[in-house]
Amino acid sequence: MITEASLKGINNLSSKWGDTGQTIALVPTMGCLHDGHLSLVRRGKEVCDRVIASIFVNPTQFGPNEDLDSYPRQVELDCDLLRKEGADAVFLPHPDHMYPQGAQTLVRVQSLSLGMCGSDRPGHFDGVATVVSKLFNIVTPDVALFGQKDFQQLAVIHQLVKDLNFKVRIIGCPIVRETDGLAMSSRNKYLTGNSRSRALCLSQALTAAKECVQRSGEGLLAETVINVTKDILLQGGVEIEYSVVVNEFSLLNEKRVGENSVLAIAAQIDGKVRLIDNARLSPRQ
Ligand code: PAJ
Repeated sequence: MITEASLKGINNLSSKWGDTGQTIALVPTMGCLHDGHLSLVRRGKEVCDRVIASIFVNPTQFGPNEDLDSYPRQVELDCDLLRKEGADAVFLPHPDHMYPQGAQTLVRVQSLSLGMCGSDRPGHFDGVATVVSKLFNIVTPDVALFGQKDFQQLAVIHQLVKDLNFKVRIIGCPIVRETDGLAMSSRNKYLTGNSRSRALCLSQALTAAKECVQRSGEGLLAETVINVTKDILLQGGVEIEYSVVVNEFSLLNEKRVGENSVLAIAAQIDGKVRLIDNARLSPRQ
């Protein structure tokens, strides 16, 4: 596996592969890799000849009181995991090279960035849209893979690609979970003892909501689903940031459960660890 820190270097490598007719998949990450990230690499290998993963803890998507400095970092271990998974290259840019002094441009996907995580983390999706645009221009992939776990992020990126005419195909990949249901996340490292078991109420709430929809069918009031979800989250002792039923594409609130309805939740555990999770509610899925 090739390790490359320079922007020019990764661009040359990608061009070299492209010039010989090989297709390239990009898996953007912030590191501290787990099986969720690695599932994207695996899918990338199925659809393209080469897979490039990037590891960059992107400062512009963290708010002033967020965990940029303490965000878990384990680059060597991550490179081992990527190598074992068969990634062809890893891109490890330095923040000063990604955002040199004097940089002024931010990319904003307007409405989709505002609700849900955008309300709790103002400016977060501007940082994501900006760094992802830069990665697309630097790496020039044919395909880029993102997880459905960050489902608002996925909607923002689909819109970004459409609006800015990026020549990249976006693939959304299923949420990978621990055996007990907890969605894998780099921030799960912050969960210890009792908070780890309390975090389980997120996936339990989603399961209960899906069962409720399965019993009643499409057309069920979203409010009913949200009440079931909130009850379980409150019993679990977590602080709810949001619990919404939205359309998968527009992210607008749904009044009734339909084919494209997604239940999305965010909660704080012990006032310090913020977790998100989501599930499609359609009984057909
Ligand atoms: P990060 O949180 O490291 O996630 C990198 C990718 O892994 C994202 O596409 C995310 O949705 C996916 N992912 C995380 N947990 C997952 C899980 N349990 N199952 C499946 N996929 C999962 O998301 C970011 O980094 C950043 O915002 C980034 C896109 C890299 C821009 O900085």
